[in-house]
Amino acid sequence: MGADVDLEQEIQELKRRHNAVILAHYYQESEIQDVADFVGDSLALAQAAAKTQADVIVFCGVHFMAETAKILNPTRRVLLPDLKAGCSLSDRCPPAAFRAFKEKHPEHFVVSYVNSSAAVKAMSDVICTSSNAVKIVNQVPRDRQILFAPDQHLGRYVMKQTGRDMVLWPGSCIVHEIFSEKRLVQLKVQHPDAEVVAHPECEEAVLRHADFIGSTKALLDYVLKSPKREFIVVTEAGILHQMKRGAPDKLFIPAPPDNDCSCNECPYMRLNTLEKLYQCMRDGTPELTLPAELQTAALAPLRRMLEWSL
Ligand code: 13P
Ligand code: SF4
Repeated sequence: MGADVDLEQEIQELKRRHNAVILAHYYQESEIQDVADFVGDSLALAQAAAKTQADVIVFCGVHFMAETAKILNPTRRVLLPDLKAGCSLSDRCPPAAFRAFKEKHPEHFVVSYVNSSAAVKAMSDVICTSSNAVKIVNQVPRDRQILFAPDQHLGRYVMKQTGRDMVLWPGSCIVHEIFSEKRLVQLKVQHPDAEVVAHPECEEAVLRHADFIGSTKALLDYVLKSPKREFIVVTEAGILHQMKRGAPDKLFIPAPPDNDCSCNECPYMRLNTLEKLYQCMRDGTPELTLPAELQTAALAPLRRMLEWSL
């Protein structure tokens, strides 16, 4: 790429030329968040994708999020700067294995976390995200037992909040499982006035120390409103960009991983770069496409999620 290309300006121009909208997740690098039309958590992004009038949705997030956008708004073209931007939770729940798991519990109502493939969604009764999981599970008919996939930690958290027993798929996120309880406690000792905010994908031992647990958007709203000045943030570090922007006078401390070789950045999210975003808008590729039958089958549980979220 020539040094003379002003990527941000070119991206704005391409957006106008193609009537495109850029949707970005909070875990994207700051430069991408800054050129996006909308930055949000997975629920807000799905809602924005469902109602956009733009011809092209440029999705700066991971594959399952772009897939969700395509399913909810099938007549739009959906571009993803790097198609390899997957998700460990989704990868750890292969459709064939999930089908077999489901067959062992044929009477169960299936609630799948949005961090799953379209094929897994198509086998589900309703989808949830981290921001609406409690609300969704609370609406599952009381006479039905529940199978929850693929994040066991979110599942366990939801069980506690709702009092519903659920059969859990044993999945977890490679980013959220590396936070260490021991190092978090050490950090709390160093910052006794700090509040701990954590994403429900973290392990129970870590969540035990949190003052507030919620989706990325809920964590952001919480720290902006709280009268406290210091926060230990136990989720992917990309969210710190909006926290610092919204409250430049507060201190945000990213929680440390369990060892110095690990990292609290999602390697999949970080496959998207400003340069790849520019190239994909310039070339109209890579485009996310899905077989029509799969799209139709995954739409019903996603629609149900949007209805139950109101
Ligand atoms: P949110 O629902 O908070 O956007 O989280 C998505 C995600 O992938 C967390 O790892
Ligand atoms: Fe998936 Fe974890 Fe990355 Fe979220 S942070 S996209 S759950 S791998």
